[in-house]
Amino acid sequence: MSHAEDLEGTRRDFLYYATAGAGVVGTGAAIWPLINQMNPSADVQALASIRVDISGVAPGTQLTVKWLGKPVFIRRRTPDEIEAARNVDLSDLPDGDARNVNLGAAPASDENRAMDEAGEWLVMIGVCTHLGCVPLGDGAGDFGGWFCPCHGSHYDQSGRIRKGPAPENLLVPATEFVDANTIKLG
Ligand code: FES
Repeated sequence: MSHAEDLEGTRRDFLYYATAGAGVVGTGAAIWPLINQMNPSADVQALASIRVDISGVAPGTQLTVKWLGKPVFIRRRTPDEIEAARNVDLSDLPDGDARNVNLGAAPASDENRAMDEAGEWLVMIGVCTHLGCVPLGDGAGDFGGWFCPCHGSHYDQSGRIRKGPAPENLLVPATEFVDANTIKLG
């Protein structure tokens, strides 16, 4: 399957990959059903565009919603996370593109990936760009961001690939603020 197909895969594709991932490492797969149950927004997966209430997301935590059959990570970052993400030398990044569909081609600076100027909100498709597993969050991995245990891909606090086989940064989907407590995906 081509990489483009990975990124715009259908719900069936996602389930396929999630199942494949579960066969490799239990922890990565186990966390997703838990999040899925905790999150009422998971039921609205079939809609092309959804609104998400972010008022309950505390700094340093991540809300995961399901959108178009894929998990979407909505992280409210702490000042330390933002600073770390913004202090990275762009020449250290394996993928130099921001992978932000709101911008098109752009350098992979943290400013080009975060939703707001201050960098507090980071929204990404939670699908590893290697073979589509769901990475673990909450500072996982060697770069304090996300870690995909399937084949060992490490993403930093901005969701950029830093180490391992994944070829691209985690994708930032179409997002916008509807108001201070609501974001729209799609
Ligand atoms: S799917 Fe292979 S490292 Fe994530």
